[in-house]
Amino acid sequence: MAVRDILREGDAALSQACAPVAAFGAALASLLDDMAETMRHADGVGLAAPQVGVLLRVLVIDVGEGLIELVNPQIVSQRGEQEAVEGCLSCPGEYGVTKRPARVKVKAQDRRGKRITVNGEGLLATALCHEIDHLDGILFKRHVIRMMDPKELQQ
Ligand code: NI
Repeated sequence: MAVRDILREGDAALSQACAPVAAFGAALASLLDDMAETMRHADGVGLAAPQVGVLLRVLVIDVGEGLIELVNPQIVSQRGEQEAVEGCLSCPGEYGVTKRPARVKVKAQDRRGKRITVNGEGLLATALCHEIDHLDGILFKRHVIRMMDPKELQQ
């Protein structure tokens, strides 16, 4: 396992649509291992492959309920609406209030290619939407209704 460099906003890799994963082998396993280590090292709750320069539909999330690894994830249904304060490891120091679904159901594959379903609400729903957006080259700022003033964050 290794900590990889996290790309910052402005890098071309962060504004592109990623390709689906077709090969479920050692390279994917090592990408997922590195992404989890990189996310933890950076104290994040989620990381998408394009943030480490890999344009594949792969993400990891840990909102404090254990590691979730998703390959080729798709939101298949969503309900409600919620506001949350979001940041992104690719936009250090910037936070904003976003509006996103309160609940989402995501279908994906695991590292072996097995089909899985994840239901998320609250912070997990926000993280799922945020990370899946990365796979389509979208940063959280597109969903921000108000950026936080740095003074608010110090309180
Ligand atoms: Ni992000």
